[in-house]
Amino acid sequence: MRVLVTGATGRLGRVVVPRLRDEGFTLRATSRRPRTGDGVEWVSTDLATGAGLAEAVAGVDAVLHLASSPQRRTHEIDVLGTRRLTMAAGHAGVRHLVYVSIVGVDRVPIPYYRHKLAAEEVVAAGSVPWSVLRATQFPEFLADLLKGASRLGPVIGDRAVLAQPVDPADVADRLAVLLLAGPSHRVEDFAGPEVLRFDEAARTWLAARRVRRPLLPVRIPGRLGRELRGGGLTTTATPTGTRTWADYLVDTYGGTGGR
Ligand SMILES: NC(=O)c1ccc[n+]([C@@H]2O[C@H](COP(=O)([O-])OP(=O)(O)OC[C@H]3O[C@@H](n4cnc5c(N)ncnc54)[C@H](OP(=O)(O)O)[C@@H]3O)[C@@H](O)[C@H]2O)c1
Repeated sequence: MRVLVTGATGRLGRVVVPRLRDEGFTLRATSRRPRTGDGVEWVSTDLATGAGLAEAVAGVDAVLHLASSPQRRTHEIDVLGTRRLTMAAGHAGVRHLVYVSIVGVDRVPIPYYRHKLAAEEVVAAGSVPWSVLRATQFPEFLADLLKGASRLGPVIGDRAVLAQPVDPADVADRLAVLLLAGPSHRVEDFAGPEVLRFDEAARTWLAARRVRRPLLPVRIPGRLGRELRGGGLTTTATPTGTRTWADYLVDTYGGTGGR
């Protein structure tokens, strides 16, 4: 199967590309910058302008759409860019478009999630048969969040916020299965094997890095806080990934990761 992977240089893309290649998929991968290597054909595309999209989708059986821009021009890139991609893929006769979204995009009032939900709707309304997989946060994202939360010294956060980090390698395996299964619309959400409270995640992260910092509790107000504490970013769906937060900590920092 010939598959175009958008966002192939991202956190998930960097893991997905070698996994799918090793599984025997023939890959074309996109980046805004010219690239070579990784045993795949690279094409330069920009979802913000549509540049390179027609060439990117030509002759592929499926598109795995991972590209996203959470920080800047999100509407332009995630929503309108996804529309540009689905239209190009439709014209090229692509038979399956797989979109990766996030668990809780319809519950948790974060501006980025509004755009992800809108992009899901664009995919569902497009002419290319589709699948949407919502995944939970990757452990690297949680670690970045903890770094940000401890910028001033103590780890500042709402202790009761719940997360269920999933390893990108587990997501990559799930995506390979979805590509082989064909268009399936919204499939079961996909999460990591355990639900963690923010204070547990912070404690084990500090221990793995051998850093002593107090936790300074704050309470996130309003609906955002209620959803984050109420499990808006988690799911009871099965199967889950297998790699834990502790596995990530061991791989990243060595030591026991709190195990
Ligand atoms: N991170 C998480 O915890 C998480 C959890 C669940 C789901 N997801 C979803 O999984 C997907 C991948 O996430 P990620 O963390 O791997 O993302 P990431 O590391 O932020 O990578 C984003 C990718 O998008 C590409 N990109 C950005 N702007 C673009 C544009 N204008 N045109 C074309 N490509 C553009 C970048 O490619 P170049 O810079 O090379 O052009 C990069 O490869 C996203 O849809 C995200 O919402 C993420």
